[in-house]
Amino acid sequence: MHRCVCPGSFDPVTNGHLDVISRAARLFDEVVVAVLVNDKKSSLFTTDERIEMLRQVCAGYSNVTVESFQGLLVDFCRDRGIPVAVKGLRAVTDFDYELQMAQMNHRLSGLDTFFVATKPDYSYLSSSLVREVATYAGDVSALVPDLVLPRLAARLAQPS
Ligand code: PNS
Repeated sequence: MHRCVCPGSFDPVTNGHLDVISRAARLFDEVVVAVLVNDKKSSLFTTDERIEMLRQVCAGYSNVTVESFQGLLVDFCRDRGIPVAVKGLRAVTDFDYELQMAQMNHRLSGLDTFFVATKPDYSYLSSSLVREVATYAGDVSALVPDLVLPRLAARLAQPS
């Protein structure tokens, strides 16, 4: 049984995330999408909301589950016997930090990181840019799963 984790903040899930998750789901028997609970960072959506959106958009993949985690990714993976993290690399600008994290994680626990090159269509895409564009009523309909759109609109319409 080959298992992997796809970790991230997913605030909110984008089509770029889904691309990486779906490719991991083809390559591994089981994929755990791990949503970081980060009390130090303010987020647009609560952890529960992010998990619920991910569960809905991943419902078509029978081998994908969604969980939250706090603390170190390596501890989450050790507890579940997960030996590999799968992450997307969008551009060379991702590489420095991703390589540092991969090497640190490997040093901490032996967790390996497999990188998938994101589709060129998504090489500029991030949750933070989606939030920013949507804040000013820009069109993000091609960038996030359909069910995210009304939730983004509703959340951004609320006074902060
Ligand atoms: O979607 P993001 O915010 O780019 O995801 C980053 C994430 C959650 C994968 C990364 O910050 C992480 O693994 N955080 C957990 C804390 C941890 O293990 N830090 C040490 C990494 S070497």
